[in-house]
Amino acid sequence: MTTSAILLVGGRGTRLLPLTQHTPKPMLEVAGVPFTEHQIRKAAEAGISEIVLATSYKADLFEPYFGSGEKFGIKIKYAFETTALGTGGGIKNAAASLGACDQVVIFNGDVLSGHDLGKQIEFHKSSNADVTLYLTQVIDARAYGCVEVDNDKRVKSFLEKMDNPVSNLINAGCYIFNPDVISSIPVDQVVSVERQTFPDLISSGAKVFGYIDNSYWLDIGTPAALVKASADLVTGKIKSTATPNHLGECLVSNTAQLDPTALIERGSVISPEVVVEAGSKISGSIIGSGAKIASNCVIVDSIIAPNTQITAGMLVFSNYLGF
Ligand code: GDD
Ligand code: MG
Repeated sequence: MTTSAILLVGGRGTRLLPLTQHTPKPMLEVAGVPFTEHQIRKAAEAGISEIVLATSYKADLFEPYFGSGEKFGIKIKYAFETTALGTGGGIKNAAASLGACDQVVIFNGDVLSGHDLGKQIEFHKSSNADVTLYLTQVIDARAYGCVEVDNDKRVKSFLEKMDNPVSNLINAGCYIFNPDVISSIPVDQVVSVERQTFPDLISSGAKVFGYIDNSYWLDIGTPAALVKASADLVTGKIKSTATPNHLGECLVSNTAQLDPTALIERGSVISPEVVVEAGSKISGSIIGSGAKIASNCVIVDSIIAPNTQITAGMLVFSNYLGF
């Protein structure tokens, strides 16, 4: 039984502007590497041998970094949508590049999760499902796909972004599709799996199941979430083999120059060639390559773009500077 994968990385990342002005959301650095690397390594670890990146916005930035995938232990291919085709259209377009396989794992390109993908695949096979959705519980489901399941975990309804959610169970953005389901998506059309494909499958009686897993889950689609994801990876709250092994609670490049009186804490990332001067404190933040933090600054839960200069004494709280 072979499993292939599609990674949806074609969105515009509007909620992350201006961070996504020149970089697509999945290529933003999280714990020292592009976010996509965490997902690609997760796919490789689950035994997936081939993954197609469904690209559109800033598409040409992926291949120079990921190449053929050799370095990551997985074969990587690239599909491109000249105009974004939506999640369903993107899946259809990317599937044309996949070799024959028994099931396809689809990942949203902005989800950091500790869920057991191997178990989700097993659950999909044992329930003989057409589609299996990874589901998790949140306090407020309004920003997500809201899902209801019956006692056998069969999905009864899927309602994308509703004002009054009917449950706290949401689509966590990782699906297993049988190849037949992808065949039923129309070619070269804008299709949303959340608004069209899933509701249609459910109403036509297809076997759509929910795999509920309440381990770590985060959509990195806002600046606050992105910086939290990075710190959680660095401190080990969520594990990823893409995060280099390090000692202590921060990730500090060995080409960075830190004054001995500087304090770096709470999962901060100090990228190569960064300079941090005397008395500055950096907490839960990402400092991009070549940035210079002058003396006596306080930077908390923030992202500083590469090569940005922060002048002495600046206080930066939950802010995103230099983009
Ligand atoms: N290739 C391609 N083409 N990818 C796309 C397109 C497209 O036209 N549109 C969006 N994507 C990718 C994005 O890059 C992202 O990785 C993923 O699809 C989901 O898009 P988002 O824009 O991040 O959607 P969302 O966060 O509002 O909602 C989705 O994720 C939630 C969980 O985080 C939905 O799937 C919800 O149902 C879900 O609850
Ligand atoms: Mg998202």
